[in-house]
Amino acid sequence: MMAPSKHPVGIIGTGTMGAGIAQVAATHGFTVMLLDQDAETVRRAVDKIHGHIDRMAEKGKLTEKERDESKARLHPADGPEDLSDCDLIIEAIIESLEAKTAMFKRVLPHLRSEAIIASNTSSLSIGAIGESIGCPERVVGMHFFNPAPLMPLVEVISGKRSDLKLVDRVVLIAEAWGKTVARANDTPGFIVNRVARPYYLEAWRIFEDGYAGVDVIDEAMRSLGGFRMGPFELTDLIGQDINVATTESVWQQLGEPSRLKPSSTQQQLVAEKHLGRKTGHGAYIHDGEDPRPAIHPGSRELKLPERMQDAVNRFVEGATDQIGAPLEKYIFARVLIAIINEAAWAVADGVADQANVDTAICKGVNYPKGPFAWAEEIGFGACGELLEALNDTVDDNRFLAPDLLRSQV
Ligand code: NAI
Repeated sequence: MMAPSKHPVGIIGTGTMGAGIAQVAATHGFTVMLLDQDAETVRRAVDKIHGHIDRMAEKGKLTEKERDESKARLHPADGPEDLSDCDLIIEAIIESLEAKTAMFKRVLPHLRSEAIIASNTSSLSIGAIGESIGCPERVVGMHFFNPAPLMPLVEVISGKRSDLKLVDRVVLIAEAWGKTVARANDTPGFIVNRVARPYYLEAWRIFEDGYAGVDVIDEAMRSLGGFRMGPFELTDLIGQDINVATTESVWQQLGEPSRLKPSSTQQQLVAEKHLGRKTGHGAYIHDGEDPRPAIHPGSRELKLPERMQDAVNRFVEGATDQIGAPLEKYIFARVLIAIINEAAWAVADGVADQANVDTAICKGVNYPKGPFAWAEEIGFGACGELLEALNDTVDDNRFLAPDLLRSQV
């Protein structure tokens, strides 16, 4: 492990993410200065982190000495002047370019000139944050996942003008904090929030096509794909509103590609405030009894032309040892190939290389395999063949494949 720097880390914004990141840093030997809009918010965050650290010790994850030392490393900052010794600042304030710019303009004059500025933003451009505060070379993306102490992945994002030495240093720090790093370029949704979108979107489309209900689709993805949760139960857990907002943001920023077009059924659920578990009603009804579907599909029978049937069978045989009924196989194949296709487009668009995409997806959303490892097992040819067959059945060209999946058909 890299030795903790003698300089503290400054965390600005001590809500859900900032507090989680502070906990990670402190339990890995780094002194942390915490700053928020007022002293009371910081005090509450420190109390909360102390509670989490106490629980880690109770569970045997920290010794008593480690517990006490970790807690002693957390220091409230009274103002930006208290961050003057930090060599890394991580901001986790509200998701607004204006708010982040205004905050940094206030804080920057107090920082060491060599301090790295990291942003935990999910949806803003790292380059845009850097340009707006006049020092793009110092700004790096450090995208944690919620809850930060438990989720192993950090996406480290290079803005167009980020200094690569600073990016490398951020990678080392994240690794010293026990995290797995995926490196990505500064593109909408980075890796995970882009490549995981079809898991939800293609599932919604199958539902909208009328082939299967939410429970049948969820079960197909669990049993054939080995996914921990199906797309509908997962979006009910995340919150349909949060999930739709991420889709809309990534879709718009990427220029509205048909592949990532939001589902109107899901948008309708959100408009009706059927947000998932938190409102008791989403894709399922959650009323204390076993969840049961709250929405019902049309009843369209699956009749596949021979070419499509062959392509689905070949794809599924390569993708899983599990045996499924034709409808289940079709569901699983359609969702998985959409993820693989998005992953291939992301690589083609220069978001990251294949290895970093696989790492991000396995560690960030816990899929049983990375999309490229899966495509390798299935065979790129079989993937290309299925994409071609599917693309012939849609009018929006959304299964169009990039060269990686096309050239080998
Ligand atoms: P949150 O609402 O829990 O916390 C934000 C904190 O920032 C609050 O304590 C607020 O008082 C403080 N704050 C707001 N304006 C400030 C300012 N000008 N100066 C200092 N502090 C200020 O938000 P959350 O969920 O922790 O998100 C923070 C950032 O992390 C956002 O950029 C978000 O997109 C990103 N993010 C969130 C994830 C999540 O699952 N919640 C996951 C990954 C990234």
